[in-house]
Amino acid sequence: MSYNLLKGKKGIIFGALDQNSIAWKTAERVYEEGGKFVLTNAPIALRMGQVDLLAKKTNSKLIPADATKLEDLENLINNTMDIFGGKIDFVLHSIGMSVNVRKGKHYTDLNHDWMAKGWDVSAVSFHKLMQCLYQKDAMNPWGSIVALSYIAAQRTFPNYNDMADNKAYLESIARSFGYFFGKDKKVRVNTISQSPTLTTKVPGIGCAVTHSPSPERTCNPPTLS
Ligand SMILES: NC(=O)c1ccc[n+]([C@@H]2O[C@H](COP(=O)([O-])OP(=O)(O)OC[C@H]3O[C@@H](n4cnc5c(N)ncnc54)[C@H](O)[C@@H]3O)[C@@H](O)[C@H]2O)c1
Repeated sequence: MSYNLLKGKKGIIFGALDQNSIAWKTAERVYEEGGKFVLTNAPIALRMGQVDLLAKKTNSKLIPADATKLEDLENLINNTMDIFGGKIDFVLHSIGMSVNVRKGKHYTDLNHDWMAKGWDVSAVSFHKLMQCLYQKDAMNPWGSIVALSYIAAQRTFPNYNDMADNKAYLESIARSFGYFFGKDKKVRVNTISQSPTLTTKVPGIGCAVTHSPSPERTCNPPTLS
C-alpha cells in the first residue's frame, strides 16, 4: 500500500546490487511512496549486477561511483543536482565489504591491507560522501542521510570479523558528521542497525554472541520483506 509519503522528495541510493540487496528493496519502497532518486554503485557492480532492471522499474537514472573515490562522488552529486534541478532530500549509504571475510581470514589472523580496504569502503566512504554533500551544500534543510550498521558495532559478534570494527567506525562518523550537518545545515544523519538478512555479498551473519546477548539476537530465518 502506498501513501505518497515521499512525494516531491529527491535523493541518491547507494548499494543496490541485485534483488536481495537492502538498497534494492528500499528503492522499490521509496518509488512506491512517490520519491525520486538516482541509483549508484561501484562501476564493476553496475557491470555485473542487475541494477539497470531496477533503474527501469523505478524510472531512475544510474550513475556509477566508487564510493571510496572523491572525484566519483563529486561527479555523482553534481549530476544528481543537475537531474533534479537543485538540492536533494535524502541519501542512503548501503555499502559494505570486507576482503578478510570474503577470503575466510580469521579475526586473529587478519591481512591488514585488506582490513584497510574494507574500512575505506565500509566506513570512510560515509565520511567522503558526507564531506562532498556538505561542501557542495547539496542537501535541503531537514533532509536525511542514512547508513546501514549492525549491532556488532557495539557488542561482540566474533563471526562478523573486521566488519564489526568498520561498523563501529561508521557509527562514530555518523555522530561526528551528524553534529556538523545538523548544526550547520539542519540535516539529519543516522545509522540503522539492520537485522541479519541473507544478501549476495553478506551471506548471513554468524549468530554466536559472547557478550550482552539480547532477545533480538535470536536467529530467525532472514527475511527481506
Ligand atoms: N545483510 C545483512 O545481514 C546486514 C546486516 C547489517 C548491516 N548490513 C549492511 O547493509 C548494507 C547493505 O548490504 P547488503 O546486505 O544489502 O549487501 P549487498 O552486497 O547487496 O550491498 C552491498 C553493496 O555495497 C556495494 N559496494 C561495495 N564496494 C563499493 C564501492 N567501493 N563503492 C560503491 N559501492 C560499493 C556493493 O556493490 C553492494 O551493492 C551494508 O552496509 C551492510 O554492511 C547488512
